[in-house]
Amino acid sequence: DKKLNVGLCGLGTVGTGVVEILQNHQEDIVHQVGCSIDVKRILVNDLSKPRGASVDPSLLTDQVDELVNDPDIDIIVEVMGGIEDTYHVLERAVQNGKHVVTANKDMMAVHGGKLMELAREKHCDIRYEASVAGGIPIIGSLTNGLASDRINKMMGIVNGTTNYILTKMVDEKRTFEDVLKEAQDLGFAEADPTSDVDGLDAARKISLLSTLAFKMQTVLDDVEVSGIRGISSEDLAYAAQLGYTMKLLGIASRENGKVEMSVQPTLVPNAHPLAGIKDEYNAVYVYGDAVGETMFYGPGAGKLPTATAVVSDLMDVVKNVRLGVTGESSVSPHYDKQMKTKDE
Ligand code: NAP
Ligand code: HSE
Repeated sequence: DKKLNVGLCGLGTVGTGVVEILQNHQEDIVHQVGCSIDVKRILVNDLSKPRGASVDPSLLTDQVDELVNDPDIDIIVEVMGGIEDTYHVLERAVQNGKHVVTANKDMMAVHGGKLMELAREKHCDIRYEASVAGGIPIIGSLTNGLASDRINKMMGIVNGTTNYILTKMVDEKRTFEDVLKEAQDLGFAEADPTSDVDGLDAARKISLLSTLAFKMQTVLDDVEVSGIRGISSEDLAYAAQLGYTMKLLGIASRENGKVEMSVQPTLVPNAHPLAGIKDEYNAVYVYGDAVGETMFYGPGAGKLPTATAVVSDLMDVVKNVRLGVTGESSVSPHYDKQMKTKDE
């Protein structure tokens, strides 16, 4: 009763951060959730890779069954990425009664609806705060803090890598390729950075946020997407001369029962707060009928900001397990089936 066991899938940028936070903040975490949280097994791809001193090598495995079939593992924390295979891993975990915390927007934007339906049946929790805007608690804000409002529009910067590239191309006059390489080295970019650069990562996030904000199952393919690949240093310099800053903006709105979602490079007037969001930082405006305009700002990518969201989700699941209220409180809205994202 005094311990819950975690199976950690992935020990890269985010997974390493999760291990560090669980170790460095252990006392505060135990105090808040009322029991210890132990990482029992860690799934990796390559067992021969050197790992940091904070990782007990005896916990490592490359066999997923050792996590999803272990009856002593209560919660799977998935920070390995991937879509189809990873969905099937998590599906099996939930079938086996395990709760899931994930940072994986790619998988959630495609299979999140199905996974949450299954979780409801199995009385499991699914949490994915880290999947959108890294360390900014935007999912919790939409589903808890603003739950009583009717949200009609969201707009913002939801990809750290492209914001990092655009910022450094202007402020340090560096090339696209040079800054992208740095964003990869810093752990901000996806394993395949084309999803950052071409806007798909932002589209997945806008689709996930829209599902929550508008309480309907949005479809990823309905997001109109263009990325920053075609933006040159000359474009950015010309925009600056005219008093604008180029940002990759995700926009979602709902009007007359219809939702529109897009991701596109946008010229933002320098006086607008979004123009001043630099590096890997993200910012999201949320407009609600009652609350009016709110803006959420913070680090949108990176090891510790993202791991903070993962571990906070994990703590929430542990609290639910201890209270015996798992399954019903997962972050999954009861969708309005009348709403649509495209004219039929
Ligand atoms: P990463 O640094 O590439 O780490 C991935 C980890 O997963 C590695 O430890 C890798 O093993 C392991 N792995 C990958 N595929 C595997 C497989 N098929 N079987 C077993 N292990 C596998 O990735 P990351 O940056 O931490 O991102 C992880 C997830 O978090 C992704 O879904 C990403 O979109 C999401 N996310 C990342 C950030 C960020 O700032 N990085 C922010 C928000 C969300 P090896 O170590 O052996 O290679
Ligand atoms: N590649 C993503 C980004 C990581 O740059 O925003 C955070 O989701």
